[in-house]
Amino acid sequence: MKKISLVYISLSGNTESFIKRLTAFLQENHEGLEVEQVNIKDLVKEGQAFFAVNNPFVAFLPTYLEGGNGVDTGDVEILTNDLGKFIAFADNVQNCLGIVGSGNRNFNNQYCLTAKQYAERFGFPVLDTFELRGLQNDIQRIGQKIATLYQL
Ligand SMILES: Cc1cc2nc3c(=O)[nH]c(=O)nc-3n(C[C@H](O)[C@H](O)[C@H](O)COP(=O)(O)O)c2cc1C
Repeated sequence: MKKISLVYISLSGNTESFIKRLTAFLQENHEGLEVEQVNIKDLVKEGQAFFAVNNPFVAFLPTYLEGGNGVDTGDVEILTNDLGKFIAFADNVQNCLGIVGSGNRNFNNQYCLTAKQYAERFGFPVLDTFELRGLQNDIQRIGQKIATLYQL
């Protein structure tokens, strides 16, 4: 049986909502697939140790940047850094199929910038982006991309 993990951080609940709907979509369309949700904020809050993910996973990262415009300023990640620490833990990066960024288009050049920074830092692709909670077509498109990548 195949297993995929969705590793995410969510501060105001948008990414969490997306992950719940994406999990349902993947399970509906791929019988027998095990989908594990790893909520980094909960791990840290509960004082649990980071662990090695031994199966393929996709990371989901909302954008929180410190002010600025994303060009000459405003490229410093705040609040979500623990996701980067989890990816850097053990050999986790080797099992990461890629990252999905989320944000708000009102931030213009800073839209989903942190996911792009992670892709450069860790050497995996930005698989896609979505805005806020994501729409049903985002769920379908991203779910299908994951299925293709992981040959489900
Ligand atoms: C303080 C703050 C800074 C933000 N900075 C950015 C940003 O630089 N770029 C962007 O695309 N979205 C930015 N956003 C929007 C969030 O990424 C967006 O609301 C996202 O859906 C939040 O996900 P979450 O609810 O899972 O935490 C910011 C939101 C807040 C509250």
